[in-house]
Amino acid sequence: MENKSRRWFIRHGSLGLAATAVASNSLFAGSASITAPTPAVLGGSPVTDVHKWIKWPIWIPETDEPLVLQSLRSGVWSRAKLVEQFEKEWANTLGSKRCLTTVNGTTALIVALNQLNIRGGDEVLVTPYTFIATIQAILTNGAMPVFVDVDPHTYQIDPKKLEAKITPQTKAILPVHILGLPADMKSIMAIANKHKLLVVEDACQAHLAEINGKKAGTFGNAGCFIFQNSKEIAIG
Ligand SMILES: Cc1ncc(COP(=O)(O)O)c(C=O)c1O
Repeated sequence: MENKSRRWFIRHGSLGLAATAVASNSLFAGSASITAPTPAVLGGSPVTDVHKWIKWPIWIPETDEPLVLQSLRSGVWSRAKLVEQFEKEWANTLGSKRCLTTVNGTTALIVALNQLNIRGGDEVLVTPYTFIATIQAILTNGAMPVFVDVDPHTYQIDPKKLEAKITPQTKAILPVHILGLPADMKSIMAIANKHKLLVVEDACQAHLAEINGKKAGTFGNAGCFIFQNSKEIAIG
């Protein structure tokens, strides 16, 4: 397939989809480069049975439910032994030095940037393709998000476009391992080391993803995770 840019893909894809709903079964109406079967909503045959879609989250009643009860009955509904145990086990699982729990992923990102002294006047290089919390965390610390576009083949921040955005104000790079795929951390860390920049990884969508056996979230100065309902590892 011809090498198209992400912008081309989004423009033609969305126009094509709008057209699909009203007129044809060509995904890219007008270009006729890709055709797709008629969507189920328009009378095509369904590729999956939505009623059989797995329920999420999944837990093991025999082992997980007694722990919830034990925690409830302990009367300590805040940081306690169970939280510390989790922090140690998560750090060990990742192969990182330590782990600190916060209330959610947004707070983890805010705290990580704050602890690395990212302040007003600083610039943080970040991908535009992420959940809004990544950008909010930079702004909450008074710093300026500077967008570096993604590689259209992976949708991850494109390391080849990083250096052009570095200014004397640049303090950090904030790659997001979007949709479970790790960003190109080897190239990102090489650029960070060359320009003495900090790196905070948003690994909120990449639990246990790895590059050559090294886990996403352990390449930079800090890695941030979240365990809410929709994530790969849901704890609540
Ligand atoms: C990439 C990314 N970053 C940050 C967050 C923020 O996590 P939370 O919703 O727990 O604040 C999420 C959560 O969906 C996310 O997907």
